[in-house]
Amino acid sequence: MVSINRRQFMAAISATAFTSMGTPAYSAMANEELRVVVIGLNGIGRTHLEGFPLIPGVRVVGACDVDSAVLGTRAENFDKKFGYQLKKYDDLRRVYDDPNVDAVVLAVPNHWHGLGTVWGCQAGKDVYTEKPCSHNIWEAGQMEKAAQKYERIVQIGIQRRSFPHLQEFFREIREEGVLGKLKSVKGLYLSRRASIGKPEVAPKPLPTVNHDLWCGPGSTKLERLRYHYDWHWFWDYGNAELGNNGPHILDLCRWVVGAEEFPTSVTSVGGRYAWDDNGQTPNTHILSYDYATAPITFEIRDLPTAEGKRDSCKYRGLSYGIVVEGEDATYLGFDTGKVIDHNGKTIREITGDKGPDGGRQLHRENFVKGVRSRKTKDLNCSVRTGHLSSALCHLGNISHQLGEPIALSSLPERVQDQPLIAEASERMNEHLAANGVNSQTASVQLGRTLEIDPAKEVFPNDDAANQLLRREYRSPFIVPEQV
Ligand SMILES: NC(=O)c1ccc[n+]([C@@H]2O[C@H](COP(=O)([O-])OP(=O)(O)OC[C@H]3O[C@@H](n4cnc5c(N)ncnc54)[C@H](O)[C@@H]3O)[C@@H](O)[C@H]2O)c1
Repeated sequence: MVSINRRQFMAAISATAFTSMGTPAYSAMANEELRVVVIGLNGIGRTHLEGFPLIPGVRVVGACDVDSAVLGTRAENFDKKFGYQLKKYDDLRRVYDDPNVDAVVLAVPNHWHGLGTVWGCQAGKDVYTEKPCSHNIWEAGQMEKAAQKYERIVQIGIQRRSFPHLQEFFREIREEGVLGKLKSVKGLYLSRRASIGKPEVAPKPLPTVNHDLWCGPGSTKLERLRYHYDWHWFWDYGNAELGNNGPHILDLCRWVVGAEEFPTSVTSVGGRYAWDDNGQTPNTHILSYDYATAPITFEIRDLPTAEGKRDSCKYRGLSYGIVVEGEDATYLGFDTGKVIDHNGKTIREITGDKGPDGGRQLHRENFVKGVRSRKTKDLNCSVRTGHLSSALCHLGNISHQLGEPIALSSLPERVQDQPLIAEASERMNEHLAANGVNSQTASVQLGRTLEIDPAKEVFPNDDAANQLLRREYRSPFIVPEQV
């Protein structure tokens, strides 16, 4: 099953950096056992560890984490559940060195997605990479090149792409015009979270974690009390709520209109309100994207309906999902949904079975199908698809980061010529007031409106924005220029 040159090939790869080398000859054959290692086990990695072994012909052979406590617990629980011991790795490079591994699942924080995928492809592994596709736009291009060059199968973990009922209904919207001509699409992620704290003394990494390896390409400075998960709210590792839950929602928005390229412009409005903490990213965010098919807006809220409350806001009955306005009818939904007419009467229910684990099992099965067939076109969410949706998050964050703080009270005037943003801002202002934000003294970050060249995936005439298409990498964790 393993190619004759594979061991020599792997031995030639340096321990710290994989360089451009020939494609390993190995490919999982259609009927052979597929040996998988899950990398990153604290959160969603646990469900991958338990989901992949349920697929016929797949054997999870190992688990990898830089936190020895997480690794130990997950491996022990796996043994209890599945009755055999996993090989334990504390460094993902050792997984890539291992010729007895065919595919990896990268359930690591966002700042590791690009490098982990490129290294995986170079080492001849197929890769299931969690969303967002990458930590920045440039990296995703490198992932795509690596997948092509080494003929690897790479699936991005935006699992709703594998829901048969959405595949069919969205096709009907695009191809049969069941909602009429599309006017606009609105994405919603109206959740509630809490402050992550503002420690007076710099927190120390968990004693069980290899902090240097956890940080990888990012800085080793630690400013969060909760080591795992709260990295989402620091630009060095995460991509804000926009890059956390945004890829799921914006993917639905983009998919439903069939937008297979970057938008022509992006604008953002937002800020971090009500919490006095170390987090860097907005907890309230409005995004707007121009597409020829239909404009997309996205509203994010991480504050509850009002100060002291524990419930999430709703817009037309939805906290999470999309509202697709057509000339004939409107669709409101997330995993499932309904079509309503102009009088608000439900004229069709959109339902379907998303299978176990919130639909992730279907998506895993689809990855395995692609691995067996060796055809990227068999994947429901290739790097290209995942990249286009994740890029919407990065574009919005770039607009935000290049914005200017203005008085919140002046926002209506500043966005009056952008009706979709203006109406979302009205709702945002009411919501902030309910959360105790004083509109007379508070400010808001008015993002820079950025023109985009969809074909080249760059910002014409905006050097500052183009610089944010990629990051500085901390050596030796550098995504190579030449994959
Ligand atoms: N598709 C989905 O529905 C879904 C849901 C949740 C999370 N996610 C994505 O999955 C990823 C992980 O999220 P999470 O909530 O599980 O995060 P988490 O912080 O809870 O867990 C990440 C784990 O990765 C480990 N890790 C970090 N760097 C590593 C490295 N270099 N090698 C090996 N292990 C490493 C950490 O120690 C930790 O155990 C994120 O990118 C997130 O966006 C996707």
